[in-house]
Amino acid sequence: MRILLTGGAGYIGSHTLVELLANKYKVCVVDNLSNSNIEFISRVQNITKKEFKFNLVDICDHNALSKVFESFRPEIVIHFAGSKSVKESFDNPLKYYKNNVFGSINLLNVMDKYSCSKIIFSSSATVYGNPEYLPIDENHKVSPSNPYGHSKLMVEKIIKDWSTTYNNKSCILRYFNPIGAHESGLIGEHSHDHPNNLLPIIENVFIGKENNLKIYGNNYKTPDGSGIRDYIHVVDLAKSHVAGIKFFDGTKSSDVFNIGTGKGNSVFEIVSIYEKVAKKNIPYVVEGRRKGDISESVADPSKARTKLSWKAELTIEDAIKHSVNWKLKNPNGYNN
Ligand code: NAD
Ligand code: UFG
Repeated sequence: MRILLTGGAGYIGSHTLVELLANKYKVCVVDNLSNSNIEFISRVQNITKKEFKFNLVDICDHNALSKVFESFRPEIVIHFAGSKSVKESFDNPLKYYKNNVFGSINLLNVMDKYSCSKIIFSSSATVYGNPEYLPIDENHKVSPSNPYGHSKLMVEKIIKDWSTTYNNKSCILRYFNPIGAHESGLIGEHSHDHPNNLLPIIENVFIGKENNLKIYGNNYKTPDGSGIRDYIHVVDLAKSHVAGIKFFDGTKSSDVFNIGTGKGNSVFEIVSIYEKVAKKNIPYVVEGRRKGDISESVADPSKARTKLSWKAELTIEDAIKHSVNWKLKNPNGYNN
């Protein structure tokens, strides 16, 4: 089976690539390296001892993307490519609508041209907005509170209409909060810009790149006042895509799944686990709430368990242990 990964050089894409190669799929990666580094190729080859194709192509470029389809003829696309910063999406919303929405429409058009009828799409728990109940199941109303979330929801709707109209197959995965790295320490989260997510910032404090962590709010209605999230090991998340591929063998053509653990941890809990695993103090200061943040987000992952036969296996301690290992070996990501 030939699988094309858009954004396969990125954080989640590269871990998924490792799982796909381990499962003997033929893989072609398309990435413009806007938030990744060509170094990922040798790292993935080092882990898997397998070959795969790579094309330096922007998904918004119809002709270049068509050429890749012409030669590789993918049967399934896993679509990771996109911009992902909530903060940046408030500052530059059009970038998000162009890269995420226009880029996806362009991709679907090229898929149609080459009769590729199956897509797995990286969506986000951010589409739910402020939860009305917890844990969040897939029937929860969707109401994103930032341009990034709007762009993800728009693509979900476009993909649903595309699958219904043309009788194509789609598997929409709503990721909760991916953290951690491959246990080898060869691949992990790499960002060209200053990170905004909790774990990459704690990592920078850990190696002394930043003086302290700013904890955004200690007055939420949670047991310790800090925000709670469902942190999932990126390797577990990567494996959900292999389950997504197998889902296409079934009778139901299209569906949406939460990809999370079902357990939440607060910011203070994460800091404390990190300190224990890294055997180092993580200094922090408590600041006001961050714009667009919600108090709590925890997945009900039971639908993925039942219908995809997938569930998260690794613990939060595993994820943090692997995150520490990655950062110690690669203090500047791939730019060492
Ligand atoms: P990432 O930035 O590490 O990976 C995205 C990859 O896409 C990068 O390699 C980047 O160079 C590439 N890319 C971006 N725009 C492109 C374009 N126009 N053409 C070709 N390549 C392009 O991000 P990630 O964390 O691996 O996220 C992957 C997907 O998962 C994204 O769609 C993101 O929105 C979604 N997601 C991520 C999270 C998270 O917290 N990391 C949570 C929910 C959903
Ligand atoms: N936090 C801090 N200090 C920081 C960074 C984060 O206290 O420096 C807190 C946040 O307030 C929140 C928690 O840590 O309570 C997690 O924050 P992240 O930025 O790591 O994650 P979010 O849940 O805000 O958002 C992430 C991605 C989104 C995605 C969402 C759901 O950034 O793109 O998870 O998948 F949509």
